[in-house]
Amino acid sequence: MHLIPVIAIDGPTASGKGTVATLVAEKLGFHYLDSGALYRLVALGSENASIDPQNGLEIGVLAKKLAISFKNGRILLNSEDVTEAIRTESIGLRASAIAAHSEVRQALIGIQHGFRVAPGLVADGRDMASVIFPDAVLKVFLTATAETRAQRRYKQLIAKGISVKLEHLLHDLQERDTRDSSRGAAPLLVADGAKVLETSELSIDQAVKKILDWYESKIA
Ligand code: CDP
Repeated sequence: MHLIPVIAIDGPTASGKGTVATLVAEKLGFHYLDSGALYRLVALGSENASIDPQNGLEIGVLAKKLAISFKNGRILLNSEDVTEAIRTESIGLRASAIAAHSEVRQALIGIQHGFRVAPGLVADGRDMASVIFPDAVLKVFLTATAETRAQRRYKQLIAKGISVKLEHLLHDLQERDTRDSSRGAAPLLVADGAKVLETSELSIDQAVKKILDWYESKIA
């Protein structure tokens, strides 16, 4: 058995995984992996290099070459600070398109495993429990209704001063859900042994507490 514990938190877009996973990691003093950021970085890199999102082979090669680093809450791509640039909806959609290629997923496995450092890791994504860390101590599938998720994403973007229409967000989110769940390579699914946490009616603190309680009872 691996000695460094992993808590895998998977779920659809805007389910609150990022916020909840970050807080769980803080409470436990664990490291945090935002695997979606890696797909967003590859999306941005491939856009800058003008590669067709359908060209899995070429994007896979590019993904292996990208210099990615996470420093003091900032995300660097080939030493340029792209923390904000990767958060747009258009990069999110492109990330979902390029993430469907197995060559791209393969290229990102090593970097994800590299985050498993003592005393532990909270990993957030789509395939953390099913593919990347199948031996995770705790597997959580965090979700909420599409309407609740669209509302949450809307508030997030408005707070950042980015103007968007709620109905466009709902449409993009449903498109991304369908693509992420129906792809052949590592589709979004409730992994074997994962606990489903429906957060439509839960506050962030309640969701965090539930996961910490589950973790305590797993290691007790
Ligand atoms: O912010 P949001 O939850 O919408 O997405 P994200 O976690 O930043 O991920 C962006 C896209 O990357 C998703 O739509 C997925 O298609 C893809 N992704 C993936 O395929 N596997 C992961 N482990 C994480 C993200």
